[in-house]
Order: sequence, then structure tokens, then C-alpha cells
Amino acid sequence: MKVTVVGAGNVGATCADVIAHKELCNELVVVDIKENFAEGKCLDMWQTAPINMYDTRLTGSTNDYSKTANSDVVVITSGLPRKPGMSRDDLISTNAGIVRSVTENIIKHSPNCIIIVVSNPLDVMTYCAYLTAKVDSKRVFGMAGILDTARYRAFLATELNVSPKDIQAVLMGGHGDTMVPLPRYTTVGGIPVTELIAEDKLNAIVQRTKTGGGEIVNLLGTSAWYAPGAAAAQMVEAIVRDQRRVFPVCAWLDGEYGQKDVFLGVPVILGKNGIEKIIELQLNGEEKKLLDDSSVAVKEVMSVLDKMNTETV
Ligand code: LAC
Repeated sequence: MKVTVVGAGNVGATCADVIAHKELCNELVVVDIKENFAEGKCLDMWQTAPINMYDTRLTGSTNDYSKTANSDVVVITSGLPRKPGMSRDDLISTNAGIVRSVTENIIKHSPNCIIIVVSNPLDVMTYCAYLTAKVDSKRVFGMAGILDTARYRAFLATELNVSPKDIQAVLMGGHGDTMVPLPRYTTVGGIPVTELIAEDKLNAIVQRTKTGGGEIVNLLGTSAWYAPGAAAAQMVEAIVRDQRRVFPVCAWLDGEYGQKDVFLGVPVILGKNGIEKIIELQLNGEEKKLLDDSSVAVKEVMSVLDKMNTETV
């Protein structure tokens, strides 16, 4: 197996580190535009191999995509991160150009790869990669739901003082403040969460989850990397090991949930072909309304990208 991570910044390097630690592939390539940056990161990581006992071979590359040839899975993390006061959508014009050119290079050298997009604004950058790659939507999707549910689950674990391992949850919608955590589908060791926590506390956790990325930006002055990097690596694992894990993933919808032509977070089965199946939950009226609102918000930003594309043609 060969995996490429594009972008050796905080998220990309963390993702690569987790992939190598878990020996998810025998060849791991990290590409960055900054001279010698990916090479340096990979050399440092490779020097942990004798300590951490892995044999995944790491190759760093300064923008030389020939080194990524025939990758099975590619994770795109390139682009600017948020600064305090910025929304993810503020990054669109800069990051769209970057994601477009990265995707062109990737598809040229690995026409059969599966692409996982991590760059922000996530849903729209996934759309950008999809438009550029021109491959089946089962092979181009975005990482957001695993990160957002991880935040939700971590907050619940703290509040309930239980292991985060026992908290299962699903979260839908866009990777922004309109995301839709679903308490009705949240369990703690099989027990509905609503039996274990007061409604106001749960509501506060749902709210904190929605702005969870911003909370980190305010603390660090830049966006998060440990959880986003680990979340993307978990998606790589599900694909390269054909685990058929059930994860919320930013996927192209073609009528599912009454949504069409939009990238939105939904639960899917993830396996060797990418998205093996989109799972359709029976949402109640309130949940459906939240998902519809989230879709409207994502579509608005998608149309900004469409307009930019028309203007540059
Ligand atoms: C976050 C960024 C990576 O949610 O979108 O932390």
C-alpha cells in the first residue's frame, strides 16, 4: 500500500505520524511546497521508527508529485489554517487555488487513488477536489465528521467521567457552526445519552461541539492538528484495511436525505473502494430541519466557488 499526505504542516505531519505509527502502508510520501520542509519532517519521523518500532518507509518531497505516483490513498491537508476571528469560509479563495492545483497533480500521477480532503472550508474544498479530479464521488470525500464527533465524545466523556471509548455518536451536516450533532443517536456503552445527562448540559455540549474548532483557534492562535490529523488517519486505516467502518464523512449527496448536488456530512461505510454505502437514518422533523439549514449554508459557499470557477474559465 502507498499513501500520500499533501501538506507537511501541523495537520499533515500529525496525520503522517499516525499513519506511520500504525503501519497503515509500506510507503508513505509527504509533499509540501516549502523547500525541504517535507523532507525534514519525514527524516525526523523516520528517526522515530527504531523507537516506535515501525517499518513504514517515509519519503518527503518538495512539490515533486512524481514521487507520489500510484498512491492508493491521498490525504490533502494543504492550505492556510484559520486565525482568531476568521471563519473557515474566509479561507475559500486562497485554499481553492491550492486544492485545485494539488488535486490536478495527484490525479495525474495516481489516477486510481482515493482522495480524502482535510483543507478548509472543508465541505467546499472537497467539492473543489471533486470537480478537479473528475472521478466517482465514492473516491473523493472529506474528513470532518470523525473530528467533530470526537470533540463531542470527548466533551461527553469529561462531563460523565467515563471512558471516551464507550461513547458512540453520529453527527451530520457541514463542518461549520451549522453542523448537526444527534443526541438521539448518541449512546454510552449502549445506553442512550439522554438517560445519563440533563438536557441543558447536553445542549451546552452540543453547542460547544459546533464551535469546537474555533475554541482551539482562540487558544492556540491557529487551528487544531492532533485531532484532525488522527481523524484523517483513521479514515485511511478504514480504507487500506478494508474495515468497513461506519463513520460520518463529508460525501456527495445525490438524493440521499432529500439533498442533491451538495457535499455534506453523513454516516457512511468506509472500505477499500472508499464510500461503500451512504447510510440513511430516519431523521425526525427537527433533525431534518437542522440538516436542511446546514445544507443551505454549505451550498452558499459552494456557489462562491462555482462563481470563482466561472470567472477564471
Ligand atoms: C478544526 C479545523 C481543522 O475543526 O477545521 O479544528
